[in-house]
Amino acid sequence: MKIRGRRGIAMMLVIMTAAAAAGSAFAETAPAARGFDHLRQRAYLPSDFDQEVFDELWTTWEEPLKSQAEGASLAERRRMAMERYGLLPDPEDPARSLQYVVDEAGRWTMSCLACHQGQVGGRMIPGLPNSNYALETLTEEVRAVKVRQRKAFGHMDLGSLLLPLGTTVGTTNAVIFGVALMRHRDAELNIIQMPPRFDLVHHDMDAPPWWHYSKRKSLYIDGFAAQGHRPLMQFLLVKENGPERFREWEDEFREIEAWIAALEPPAWSGPLDHTLAAAGEAVFVNHCAECHGSYGGDGHYPERLVPIEAVGTDRVRLDSLSAADRRALNDSWFGHSGADAEADGLRDREAPRGYVAPPLDGIWASAPYFHNGSVPTLWHVLNPAARPTVWRRTPTGYDEARVGLEVEERADLPEGRLRPAERRRYFDTRRPGKSAAGHDFADVLDDDQKQALLEYLKTL
Ligand code: HEC
Ligand code: HEC
Repeated sequence: MKIRGRRGIAMMLVIMTAAAAAGSAFAETAPAARGFDHLRQRAYLPSDFDQEVFDELWTTWEEPLKSQAEGASLAERRRMAMERYGLLPDPEDPARSLQYVVDEAGRWTMSCLACHQGQVGGRMIPGLPNSNYALETLTEEVRAVKVRQRKAFGHMDLGSLLLPLGTTVGTTNAVIFGVALMRHRDAELNIIQMPPRFDLVHHDMDAPPWWHYSKRKSLYIDGFAAQGHRPLMQFLLVKENGPERFREWEDEFREIEAWIAALEPPAWSGPLDHTLAAAGEAVFVNHCAECHGSYGGDGHYPERLVPIEAVGTDRVRLDSLSAADRRALNDSWFGHSGADAEADGLRDREAPRGYVAPPLDGIWASAPYFHNGSVPTLWHVLNPAARPTVWRRTPTGYDEARVGLEVEERADLPEGRLRPAERRRYFDTRRPGKSAAGHDFADVLDDDQKQALLEYLKTL
């Protein structure tokens, strides 16, 4: 399943076109289909840049890439730009991306799909976290081109001067954008001119797959908020969107939520040893199911909140949100969309405790693993001592044997000064918020049991 370069892109387009055709099954579920249209067509934020800026981004690149782009056709240059920033071309119009809304005037606006639609082995999957997204690099290079073209900065260009957007490709500081923006609002989402003091703990997260939504009742890795269409609107909290906008767009977000809730996990299409997988199921039942639940026809998902001391993964995400931040969200307009934190018993999760063991459906596709995206393959999840200190993925390579990203593993970063765009391609587990430690539940298993378990995980 290693798919690279031109052949990879061609193959991806074939698969995406097939997926678009299969999407017609949504005809019966009209609200969900409309939800997808909103995600693709509605700019909920001010635009980030225009086509003229996008088409000049190559001028900021390092050599030899810059010279390659200079000698390339416009179409090829656009393809190179999408690959650099982790964007997927729209099969109907490869000059555009599926993750930005582009209007008639050629203005590009980030959509939810920038973080929530990605590729695995070159296959585009709706709801898969975009583990190639290079938001910070894109924003920096957009800003450099805007200065040259004498264009005004947008909210992202300015925001990134105040907050880091994401220090590693594929992860973003999205939770802290939300916290910072929410501190500028009262409970009814009116803008507060003088926000109280700021103490933000920046950290990056790997977004969770959207196809888990229908299995869960709570939101987020620490599971403190009740599901609903309203909390999904936090992404719209820029100052240009006043409180009335949220009421106005509420119905569209009901449809977006319906689309998210209708998503199914992708099925494994590589080789599978059924006998081995059946042996692995027994290991799973004994060692994993108490937290992650059971799968198949009569499956049960316990949505268990595991204390941080027991799971032992990186705790920065847990500590970065205060009880007051969590309470402010649950008490605000966002927290009142039908489901109720009180009724669902989520209030006692407002004080930091731990992480929810996520469903493992489609887990083969959603590498890297853990909430901070620190572990590149399922084999590494099962072998904590072998997790790399520093790793870098290939653009679309898939490791079928270890089930996850194809990576280069390193003891340290390369020698010498790296340009920021290059440095962000390395995941350094020694940095704050990026630890790959913990979750050592498989340490009691021998190699044969782990091999069987790995085979079973492909079937979920
Ligand atoms: C910049 C990247 C980014 C963008 C853009 C973004 N999200 Fe997310 N989203 C995340 C991250 C990271 C999380 C994980 C937060 C956590 O668990 O603390 C998340 C979590 C979620 C979840 C919760 C899933 C779960 O199982 O807990 C939903 C649903 C969701 N986002 C929907 C949306 C929608 C709808 C939009 C657009 C209106 C959007 N997101 C835009 C990064 C993003
Ligand atoms: C005591 C509860 C518990 C047990 C037992 C447990 N897990 Fe987990 N697991 C968790 C929690 C909590 C997380 C989320 C950790 C994080 O993201 O920081 C998690 C995360 C994972 C992930 C990453 C999910 C993702 O989307 O990134 C995988 C894969 C996983 N577990 C597999 C297993 C397997 C296989 C076993 C059995 C050997 C197992 N777990 C046993 C609690 C548990």
